[in-house]
Amino acid sequence: MKAAVLKGVNQPIEINEVPIPELQNHQVLVKLKASALNHRDWWIQKGLYAGLKFPVILGSDGSGIVVKIQNTEHQNWLNHEVIINPSLEWGDNQRVQSANYRILGLPEDGTFAEYVAIPVQNIVKKPAYLSWEEAASLPLAGLTAFRALFTRGEAQKSDNILITGVGGGVALFAFQMAIAIGANVWVTSGKLEKISKAIKLGAKGGANYKEENWFKNLKKDSFGGFDLIIDSAAGKDFKELIELAKPGGRIVFYGGTNGNLPELLPAKIFWKQLDIKGSTMGSDKEFVQLVKFFEEHKIKPIVSEVFSLLEIEKAIRRFDEPNQFGKIVIINEL
Ligand SMILES: NC(=O)c1ccc[n+]([C@@H]2O[C@H](COP(=O)([O-])OP(=O)(O)OC[C@H]3O[C@@H](n4cnc5c(N)ncnc54)[C@H](OP(=O)(O)O)[C@@H]3O)[C@@H](O)[C@H]2O)c1
Repeated sequence: MKAAVLKGVNQPIEINEVPIPELQNHQVLVKLKASALNHRDWWIQKGLYAGLKFPVILGSDGSGIVVKIQNTEHQNWLNHEVIINPSLEWGDNQRVQSANYRILGLPEDGTFAEYVAIPVQNIVKKPAYLSWEEAASLPLAGLTAFRALFTRGEAQKSDNILITGVGGGVALFAFQMAIAIGANVWVTSGKLEKISKAIKLGAKGGANYKEENWFKNLKKDSFGGFDLIIDSAAGKDFKELIELAKPGGRIVFYGGTNGNLPELLPAKIFWKQLDIKGSTMGSDKEFVQLVKFFEEHKIKPIVSEVFSLLEIEKAIRRFDEPNQFGKIVIINEL
């Protein structure tokens, strides 16, 4: 099969001919129709990710058809259209992942290939209303957004919610789900046109985080701040998020795109009774809940750009500058 192989730090991803993966116990083979890129793939290529190993086939997201099974008890899955859950061995504890937890696409070979081997417990049926591209864009970013917003963030319809960096894959899913429950949602972005797009999709307003004092109007416009803030940038602006949170509010963050947390004044956090929570990906149970939520609300994932598997290196370069609004998708069928 053809696969996109990364052979080292800062190397371009190459298309190589490699063997179709052999199935282990309780795995199925999925012929991939589409996959999607995540910021994780870019961090790995840059060498800025834990547990690097090369060569590796990156890619955590995928949609396709089950073409082979290892155990006869799973034969009902044959020929089914599926979405892949990239959370491997989360375990039974809903509060935290197990010590064996891994994300598909390092260390295990991932979805930037014609086929992928995946445990049967990591596939769910693809909702018919989603195209292959839309379905492929959902898994990693959608799951991260679902857990951050609902499990960790406890989002409610009555909440004022701020989603930072709305152009990002995870942020946009969090935004779409917060709008779907009827919450009052504001956004930030480094580009005004992305704020305008979010307003067209139901945001109450937004601010450009690249402008000085970007946070000032947000507090006024939201009539006093936010019950819940979902962030993946961290960095120096995190202290403004503490200001923007209402007393009793929650700040959930799942990334550090903008660097380390700044010095924070303890009194600002304890006097306001703030919950500051970290969040990562999600469990098998949350993945099923995510797909159900999307299906019930008929939410369409927003696809920013589509590339062929052969153009994967061009596609990953898109993360050098965040110009996308939504997911960058790969068509795996050649
Ligand atoms: N813990 C987890 O399980 C998990 C899962 C997924 C992702 N992540 C991490 O979360 C981050 C986002 O991932 P992604 O896949 O959604 O990436 P992405 O699609 O590349 O989105 C990144 C977005 O970050 C926003 N951003 C950049 N600088 C910012 C700043 N100073 N303030 C606010 N927003 C800023 C930009 O939004 P605009 O375009 O609107 O300016 C950009 O589009 C990455 O660091 C990633 O590694 C963690």
